[in-house]
Amino acid sequence: MVAPMAATSAQSVTVAPFGTLSDGTAIDEYTLTNANAVEVKIITLGGIVTSIRVPDRDGTFGNITLGFSTLDDYLAPHPYFGTITGRFANRIANGRFTLDGRTYSLATNNGTNALHGGLVGFNKRVWAAEAVEGKDDAIGVRLTYLSPDGEEGYPGALDVTVEYTLTSDDALRIDYLATTDAPTVVNLTNHAYFNLADEGSGSILDHVLMLNASRYTPVDGNAIPIGEIAPVADTPFDFRRAMTMGARIRSGHQQTVRGHGYDHNFVIDRPDGEPMALAAWVHEPTRGRVLETFTTEPGVQFYSGNFLDSTLVGSSGRVYRQSDGFCLETQHFPDSPNKPEFPSTVLRPGEEFRSTTIYRFSTDAAPPG
Ligand code: GLA
Repeated sequence: MVAPMAATSAQSVTVAPFGTLSDGTAIDEYTLTNANAVEVKIITLGGIVTSIRVPDRDGTFGNITLGFSTLDDYLAPHPYFGTITGRFANRIANGRFTLDGRTYSLATNNGTNALHGGLVGFNKRVWAAEAVEGKDDAIGVRLTYLSPDGEEGYPGALDVTVEYTLTSDDALRIDYLATTDAPTVVNLTNHAYFNLADEGSGSILDHVLMLNASRYTPVDGNAIPIGEIAPVADTPFDFRRAMTMGARIRSGHQQTVRGHGYDHNFVIDRPDGEPMALAAWVHEPTRGRVLETFTTEPGVQFYSGNFLDSTLVGSSGRVYRQSDGFCLETQHFPDSPNKPEFPSTVLRPGEEFRSTTIYRFSTDAAPPG
């Protein structure tokens, strides 16, 4: 059963049941469709983007994000396909940080590190949802979650709102808002994996990538930034000139070895006074699809799907092998709570954490600027 909730001409927000958790909690799926028939699906479990259907240069639509078609698949272990990721996206070394003289111990779930919010991060929580309509010719869904004080070891009750908006110019906009009742740290992102030639169609290594970043944060053997903000010049990390993702992935550079490919935070080059900067441009040459990523965040994790290992079968029934998808996780830098030299991730009572990321879809558009 699909109940229409809002509709202006051809665009619509609909909601349908997606399944039920063992405790009886119902999980809903929201479908956002714009006037160009671009369609984004989001479920209330983890705020997961389960499907993004966009046209290629011939007008043929396909789903360009990795994921599943059933709730059971999303309840089984998976590497954050499409999820809201928090309270702290990416890693905190040894699951520990000190704030205002107090040391906090977090749930660890990645060797000795805390990764993507812990054992039960925002990716596994059930979010309250409501349809949003009539906003500048755009439609969306607003998700909210109140994370209790101490959840996964993090201090402060964190009140989080994530709004997904599908615009009339084929962009998926994600607005994050969080407030706290005690000093804490926050880093929120979405962990969508993309394959612009269609989900399940094979490797992304021939996708052409431009990253608007002249610096990145090299990591140690545990994927924790060593603290240096290093130039990308003369390394396989220089994507300022567009280049295929795979061209230098086997280069033997110490950092691609440590990352098992690309799994690194890039420092976005931000023109002075511009809160929303271009982070990345990706072009898939055979079908012509383009993804541009803009964000208010200082960094973006470019992850080349290194840990996809043929154990998961995606929504179209095909297995995901290494590098069958890539992520552009907009974020503050990993391990910021232990790196005073990085932009701060501290949030205090009375302050608002606000962050916006835009993924814009088109075909054969040149890199902006
Ligand atoms: C992020 C991390 C990776 C990996 C993936 C999920 O991109 O940086 O190391 O954990 O999430 O598998």
